[in-house]
Amino acid sequence: MTAVGASLLERLDELEGKGLAAIEAAGTGDALEAARVTYLGRNGELADLMGRIGSVEPDVRPRVGQRANAVKTALQEALETRARELAAGAAEQVDGEADLTLPGRRPWVGGVHPVTRVIDEICDIFRDLGFTRVQGPEIETTWYNFTALNIPLDHPAADTMDTFYLDEDVILRTHTSPVQARVMETHEPPVRVVVPGLAYRRDSFDPSHAPAFEQIEGLAVDEGIDFIEFRSAIEHFVGRFFGRDTGSRFRPSFYPFTEPSAEVDVTCTVCRGSGCPTCKRTGWITIMGSGMVDPAVFEAIGYDPERYTGYAFGMGPGRIAMVRHGIPDMRMLYDGDVRFLEQFA
Ligand code: DAH
Repeated sequence: MTAVGASLLERLDELEGKGLAAIEAAGTGDALEAARVTYLGRNGELADLMGRIGSVEPDVRPRVGQRANAVKTALQEALETRARELAAGAAEQVDGEADLTLPGRRPWVGGVHPVTRVIDEICDIFRDLGFTRVQGPEIETTWYNFTALNIPLDHPAADTMDTFYLDEDVILRTHTSPVQARVMETHEPPVRVVVPGLAYRRDSFDPSHAPAFEQIEGLAVDEGIDFIEFRSAIEHFVGRFFGRDTGSRFRPSFYPFTEPSAEVDVTCTVCRGSGCPTCKRTGWITIMGSGMVDPAVFEAIGYDPERYTGYAFGMGPGRIAMVRHGIPDMRMLYDGDVRFLEQFA
């Protein structure tokens, strides 16, 4: 035996031993592939040794060549056997024992829409103040929507440009305020109600308008209700809904069905009053229209205006949800896009 041939045969034995051990030890398809590349790959160890056969003395060259081929076959067979074993093992694990260490698949769960959540929270706070949650019809007559509320039919709000008319005096309600009149017509004071529901106006969809939108109406009527009770109820609500550190202010305003009327602003929840794009740099965000019920409304529905007083308010929970979550475009509330909605679930 010549020197080069002998050393090559020795190295082939060694390579066969290492290669078979590595293949049998491979616990995954990836590990097996790595072993294949190391020993049988184009630049692997066997290819390297085979490349040296040319320099073996001619008389022993065939023997070394045969041995190299035998090692190659042995490694290839071991590789195939191990691949089959791994595949069988994986299949067994799938329909056999469960892998208890795998994290479970989270089932898809729905959630309450952010506007619905605002509505529920508002109604819950007023429930603690003795208010009952009621509903009224979305298809309404001009009498309940306008006339009973002291809004003359030639008021711009009653215009066909702003209101969806279904018939000469049947409309889609433009606010939830007509439910005030419906409740008072059928109930004697004391009355305390909150009325969530949809209202409709002839606006196109844009970042801050929708032709159908949620409102919440509130109404309290009793003997002896004064502006102080009105203001403390609203302040209590603001503190609970927006947080104790949120201030509120009443700004004089006008609504035909309240006198005096006020718009209620709260400290901007984003900048806390210093001024930012959300509050248009005023530090305040308007959350509702309100006021003491105008005696003309009591007269229209048949309450004695000398005996009863009360307050009313109306707010837009869609807008409040936008402020609360920093939602830049009202249309997102209507798209039903699950990728947007699941953030609030
Ligand atoms: N109905 C009014 C609107 O849609 C909101 C409103 C203002 C309701 C004052 C009230 C109120 O009850 O007192 O703009």
